[in-house]
Amino acid sequence: LKIALVGAAGGIGSSAAYTMATRGIGTEYLLVDPNEPVLQTQVMDLEQLRIKRPFVVRVADLDELPTADIVVISAAVPPEPDRPRMHYLRGNLTITRQIAEVFDGHSDWQGVIIFASNPVDPLLLDFQVRTGIDRRRVIGYSINDTLRFRYGIALEARVRPDQVLAWVIGEHGNGCVPLFSRVEIDGAPVNFDEDQQRRIREYLLGWYPRWVALGTSRTSTWMSGNGLAEMVEHLIGGLNGPWLGAIVLEGEYGIDGVAMTVPLELGRSGVRSVLNWELSAPEQNQLKAAAGYLSALSHPPSYGR
Ligand SMILES: NC(=O)c1ccc[n+]([C@@H]2O[C@H](COP(=O)([O-])OP(=O)(O)OC[C@H]3O[C@@H](n4cnc5c(N)ncnc54)[C@H](O)[C@@H]3O)[C@@H](O)[C@H]2O)c1
Repeated sequence: LKIALVGAAGGIGSSAAYTMATRGIGTEYLLVDPNEPVLQTQVMDLEQLRIKRPFVVRVADLDELPTADIVVISAAVPPEPDRPRMHYLRGNLTITRQIAEVFDGHSDWQGVIIFASNPVDPLLLDFQVRTGIDRRRVIGYSINDTLRFRYGIALEARVRPDQVLAWVIGEHGNGCVPLFSRVEIDGAPVNFDEDQQRRIREYLLGWYPRWVALGTSRTSTWMSGNGLAEMVEHLIGGLNGPWLGAIVLEGEYGIDGVAMTVPLELGRSGVRSVLNWELSAPEQNQLKAAAGYLSALSHPPSYGR
């Protein structure tokens, strides 16, 4: 299984490569990034782990991406202090369009793209439209919202986070939709009153602003490296059950032509199916509102203006 990481010298790419290599996910890693000296150190570093199991790790060019089975894209412009994700749309679009060019003539590519660069939803839509790769093979990474939601619920309910099962769909940003209608603790459905929901929502939506206000150049690299490795495991069949990620929607949940996170069943060729979960009326309304917001900025050619 050949996995290419684009933006590999950065926090997310390096954390994902390390996590996959140590967990035995993949047999060949192609590291792509303009920051070649850092890539060289990563190769030298990871190579030593081959004492545990055989795998190949090397620096690669963008041109080699279509030879990979899975391509993880986390390439991005340098972070600035205290900015929302949407601030990076134009800058990162320049980069992801450059990556899209590599897939010219490869619209029938049989691999899977995992898109992590932010803002995930509009970047993914632009990439999928430009490359013409089957939408089921271009999936956005957004599970961190779900993890933060579970953590917020655990704090409110005074239980351990691993006792909580809960999910977030919608935009990877302020338009995320926490599904209060299907929260479980220890396998039993749980309802929260309005005050509790408000506090949990504040925790969830406040997580990113609290983080970027610290003014470091770090993103949530460990959580994301772990999540990306798990996502690949879902793709290759090592893990089962629903996975939440972004896909360009074609009528699912009444939404068309917008990329957003929905529940998915993953497999070797990407999204096997978009799961049709029943939503409460407020959840449906929030999802429609998020789609409206994204579709207002989502006509790919206008991004560059
Ligand atoms: N989807 C999520 O849940 C999630 C979570 C955390 C971070 N992110 C996003 O992932 C992106 C990367 O985060 P990071 O912490 O790794 O940032 P980073 O700044 O550490 O790394 C970005 C890397 O991209 C490289 N790069 C720039 N232009 C490139 C190009 N043309 N081709 C290949 N590589 C290129 C840079 O050299 C750098 O090494 C950001 O957009 C961040 O917001 C997403």
